[in-house]
Amino acid sequence: MLVNAKEMMNKARDGHYAVPHFNINNLEWTRFILEESEAMNSPLILGVSEGAKKYMGGFQTVSAMVKALIKDLNITIPVALHLDHGSSVESCKEAIDAGFTSVMFDGSKYSLEENLAMTKEVVAYAKLHDVSVEAEIGHIGGEEDGVADELAYAKVEDAVRLGLESGIDFLAPALGSVHGIYKGEPKLDFGRMKEIKEKTNLPLVLHGGSGIPDDMIRTGIDCGIAKLNINTELQIAWSKAVRTFLNENVSVYDPRKIIKAGEAAMKETIKDKILLLGSNDRA
Ligand code: 13P
Repeated sequence: MLVNAKEMMNKARDGHYAVPHFNINNLEWTRFILEESEAMNSPLILGVSEGAKKYMGGFQTVSAMVKALIKDLNITIPVALHLDHGSSVESCKEAIDAGFTSVMFDGSKYSLEENLAMTKEVVAYAKLHDVSVEAEIGHIGGEEDGVADELAYAKVEDAVRLGLESGIDFLAPALGSVHGIYKGEPKLDFGRMKEIKEKTNLPLVLHGGSGIPDDMIRTGIDCGIAKLNINTELQIAWSKAVRTFLNENVSVYDPRKIIKAGEAAMKETIKDKILLLGSNDRA
């Protein structure tokens, strides 16, 4: 069932576990993630970046595909279809109009005042449509960095202001994680994380979930993380398996066989993450 993510996030915060957010890139990935999450009886957030949305055709295509798969596969776990890093108010509204049940407005490139004003605009529109909202404070870096810029870490007072004044449902403070592959161990600021959680009581989101050691993820959950975003680790698991399959089966050309060659490896990664986050049997 497609749902607003607020309830599953609040339950995770109160139950001291985290909901997995897996990014989707195509129909097959969506099916693999839905099937494994259903098998694990875990609540699920399907993240769609603006790039992935464009790749798949558009918000309407993604929304229709996800809804149809949920029906055809008889998925019973709660699933939120979530815009990941919406870069503008318009993009968030477009996703909502297409049937997304959750959106992230990423105003991290703006000043706090601008970020707050735009986040509020997204929240007002989202509330009318029963859609949950995530916001970002500080700036979560990308693969080009590999290490987080300490100047880009969220300030506690800014996180508290954005978290409490905007009306959002969950908050992503940049506290040392980066998207993509890490250079060395991430330096997560658990002290700030805990303080932000205590002062806002909002479920917190950790982006750049791939490559963070398991014990750090567990500590993050203790400090208020209720959603872990994972993309790169699924990409690596899938592409490794497909590469091996293609090398060993040079005459295969059926795309179904090629894409499916990554299914078991992806599902294994999904299962491991769900067990690590403790979201199994929480649907
Ligand atoms: P990774 O690609 O590092 O797993 O990050 C995913 C993410 O944070 C999506 O918002």
